[in-house]
Amino acid sequence: MKVFNVGILGLGYIGASHIDAVRRIPNCRLVAVADTNIEFAKARAEQYGIEKYYGSPEELLADPDIDVIHNCTPNHLHTDINRAVIEAGKHLFSEKPLSRNYEEALSLLETSKAHPEVVCAVNFNYRMNPLVQEMRSRIKKGELGDVRIVSGAYQQQHMMYDTDYNWRFEPEFSGISCTVADIGSHWMDLVQHVTGSKIVSVMADLVTTIPVRKKAKKQVDTFSNAVCDEYELKNIEMEDYGAVLFKMDNGATGLFHVSQVSAGHGCCFGVEFNGSKCSYRWNQEENDRLWIGLRGDDNRYVIRDPNYMTPEAKAVSALAMGHPEGWNDAFCGNIRAFYEYLASDRATSPSFASLEEASYIIRLTEAIVKSSKEKRWIEV
Ligand SMILES: NC(=O)c1ccc[n+]([C@@H]2O[C@H](COP(=O)([O-])OP(=O)(O)OC[C@H]3O[C@@H](n4cnc5c(N)ncnc54)[C@H](O)[C@@H]3O)[C@@H](O)[C@H]2O)c1
Repeated sequence: MKVFNVGILGLGYIGASHIDAVRRIPNCRLVAVADTNIEFAKARAEQYGIEKYYGSPEELLADPDIDVIHNCTPNHLHTDINRAVIEAGKHLFSEKPLSRNYEEALSLLETSKAHPEVVCAVNFNYRMNPLVQEMRSRIKKGELGDVRIVSGAYQQQHMMYDTDYNWRFEPEFSGISCTVADIGSHWMDLVQHVTGSKIVSVMADLVTTIPVRKKAKKQVDTFSNAVCDEYELKNIEMEDYGAVLFKMDNGATGLFHVSQVSAGHGCCFGVEFNGSKCSYRWNQEENDRLWIGLRGDDNRYVIRDPNYMTPEAKAVSALAMGHPEGWNDAFCGNIRAFYEYLASDRATSPSFASLEEASYIIRLTEAIVKSSKEKRWIEV
């Protein structure tokens, strides 16, 4: 299989997971890392024995050895850096959300169309949980029947104190939304991926539960519990909670809520599909189990077991039953799908999220923000 030379840009919370994932993929060679905090880049390069490190995106882009760049920088840098990666003729694996707003997303689509030789992906990693693929295959085969109701939530706790602060609360860095863009984007992508249908109208209520936060004067890591004595008070306008009613183009109706202020939840990403034949429920925190709800028979759990899963689910499941796979495995599976596609004849449509799909998520996010402001349903 063709091997690709990889550079990872942005080495914060998620950059570390990209390093880990890429090192597990047979046709990847991690040759460089880069971060504007060059000390950080140097430390990562030494820690993992990576040949080269850089202190700027420009240096990484100029490296002729690199075939693929992973963009793991904060949201406000996605559009410009992604465009530069595409224009440099390097394949792009970008973190979500694709951009800060739909206008930026459309401009990236234009750039991508002008460079059809460049393959682009956006990291909606929850897709590649084996039991997510299992639900998708079963729905495709008609085992759920008509999809009628889709519901769920994505809850986290890491913003629940007023001392929790992150660039995600600043529109300049985050974009049009905080929590919907940050984690609601994953939820909407998964629902659309699993059902093969689009969310086409939304009615939302976005709430800022903590309107004033203490911003530490020195940088605090994402998801860190660190509290800094020196801080400035910041008024917060962006949401840390949101509830959304929606309709899909397959006729299904749905609702979800997202929160980053819910104690006890680290990555509580749950989804339930109610169909005309049965129901499916899956939660990321109990990754290896899929609940099937039946009328007229015993409800049951499908326990992840590559021996009995559909080929699509088996393709992203490496370990035998009883050997739990988790977040990191699905994350790696999503990136692996990208590199397998790169090495293939690229004739079939990929299972990772395309720029078009990621742009649509930005469009939905904008509609959700608008709906909450105008207190009405918005057609997308
Ligand atoms: N897919 C997922 O599950 C997931 C999870 C977390 C974060 N993310 C996404 O990843 C991105 C980064 O989030 P994070 O939590 O890792 O942020 P972070 O703040 O922890 O890390 C960002 C890193 O980028 C570096 N950086 C800033 N400007 C740069 C520049 N111009 N060039 C190179 N490096 C630069 C910073 O020094 C920092 O090391 C966000 O877009 C976020 O939405 C995705």
